[in-house]
Amino acid sequence: MKKHTNYDPIRKRYNRVAFIYNFLEAPLEYFRFASWRTRMKSNIIGNRVLEVGVGTGKNFPYYPKGIEITAIDFSPGMLKRARKKASAEDVRVALIEMDVQQLDFPDNYFDTVFATFVFCSVLDPVAGLKELKRVCKPEGKLLLLEHMRPGNVISGLIFDVLNPFVVRMMGANINRRTLDNILKVGWKIRVKERLSSDIVWWIEAGPS
Ligand SMILES: C[S@@+](CC[C@H](N)C(=O)[O-])C[C@H]1O[C@@H](n2cnc3c(N)ncnc32)[C@H](O)[C@@H]1O
Repeated sequence: MKKHTNYDPIRKRYNRVAFIYNFLEAPLEYFRFASWRTRMKSNIIGNRVLEVGVGTGKNFPYYPKGIEITAIDFSPGMLKRARKKASAEDVRVALIEMDVQQLDFPDNYFDTVFATFVFCSVLDPVAGLKELKRVCKPEGKLLLLEHMRPGNVISGLIFDVLNPFVVRMMGANINRRTLDNILKVGWKIRVKERLSSDIVWWIEAGPS
């Protein structure tokens, strides 16, 4: 993995919470996230597929059968849990420690690139989304499940005030403007669907 990520504070935070991550997220996972994740399975296309920020491997049950997916994360602590899960559940996945801000893959390589609840944490989300665009084939697609800053003025301000505390505890920002960031990088949004008020979104985009 390239050098600069060694002092990324976000990486440290995920290493710190890795052992308790599934427990902390269990209620949300059970009541909301799990049903949203099922969308991945029917929307992933092609044989070359990349998941970024794989975490503890919560998307494994929704991987399409018959292909080996490449999945990266820059936190060795999270990857350790993903490796255990992959071997216990016999999931075909190549798990690699790598930073989405500096991907070690060739241009135009993947048919589908996807992430769930990751661009709230990436230190420079625009750099990460740019890298995904570089490694995605021109006819490929980006799938994202992300929470973002609410559009309502009052809620938006509340999220801004709470954000530093959440980042310190969990490593995730709750006030990211991810839709704007996707557009900034030049992705063409094909589908954007609100899943929970205007905070959690399902996004499908293409490089052109
Ligand atoms: C909120 S967790 C989500 C994990 C998983 N995608 C899920 O849905 O449960 C965010 C993950 O993104 C990873 N991450 C954050 N920044 C990253 C980066 N720059 N490169 C690679 N992984 C990153 C973290 O280590 C963590 O595992």
